[in-house]
Amino acid sequence: MTAPNTPNNVLSGRTLSAEIITNDLRPRVEALQAKGITPKLVVVLIGDHAASASYVRQKEKSAAKAGIVSEVWRYEETVTEAEILQVIEKINRDESIHGVIVQLPVPDHISVPAILKAIDPAKDVDGFTPDNVGKLFQGEECLACCTPQGIMHLVRASGVEVSGAHAVVVGRSNIVGKPVAGLLLNANATVTICHSRTRDLSHHTRQADILVVAVGRPNFVTAEHVREGAVVIDVGIHRTEAGKLTGDVDYDSVSPRAKCITPVPGGVGPMTVVSLIQNTIIAAERLAEGKASQ
Ligand code: GUN
Repeated sequence: MTAPNTPNNVLSGRTLSAEIITNDLRPRVEALQAKGITPKLVVVLIGDHAASASYVRQKEKSAAKAGIVSEVWRYEETVTEAEILQVIEKINRDESIHGVIVQLPVPDHISVPAILKAIDPAKDVDGFTPDNVGKLFQGEECLACCTPQGIMHLVRASGVEVSGAHAVVVGRSNIVGKPVAGLLLNANATVTICHSRTRDLSHHTRQADILVVAVGRPNFVTAEHVREGAVVIDVGIHRTEAGKLTGDVDYDSVSPRAKCITPVPGGVGPMTVVSLIQNTIIAAERLAEGKASQ
């Protein structure tokens, strides 16, 4: 796809993710199934965080559409870190499981770094383990984080030439800001990372050909931050007091300036999910290749 995939300038993750499932992922799953392999994803879900439960349902739905198996392994809020580490060990050893994620956030008594270090990097379909993060920043083949990969799909679908473009990322989290900066750099963009301590934010954001906003604050980026003709990717999702979903970008003021802009909902969210399915398929393909060459 080379142009915004809906009329006007809306860059729809809903449309793009459905196309990727149909045109790329399903045929790859069918090819694996012909060799007797069905990719399988396990989601470890701890406690009853409402947003996590909703994300996990979306992951199950997309997995079914792509033809892969997904299981949600649920644990009480009181489960210990040692018990979760044992669960991960079991998953690491189980050859029928190709990918695992531990849905975040986890309760405070469980250490996220300890959990991530325990996951076999070959099954780390979130791309969160030190091994995969290190490879991403060395420009090596890896399982890359899902939201950043989803953003790269959207940026490519916008038709903008990434190589040589100036990409400005607002936000420096480990799961979005830093890895998306790495992927953009690997694609030869010039990358600026801004964050809460950046002085004169709009001076930087107005330079952006590609503006990625992941700050976790509703309607934070407004028209004054955006250059005419920029591709704007909004990673945020918030529910307003009126019950409406909104992003980190003030859509109504920014949209008229943008070459294209992702909506909320229906922008980055579905692309994160499709990237998780894609990573699970890659993990299964690699295992199949490894077995074939043994
Ligand atoms: N919680 C919010 N986003 C994510 C994600 O991409 N992966 C996991 N494991 N948890 C999340």
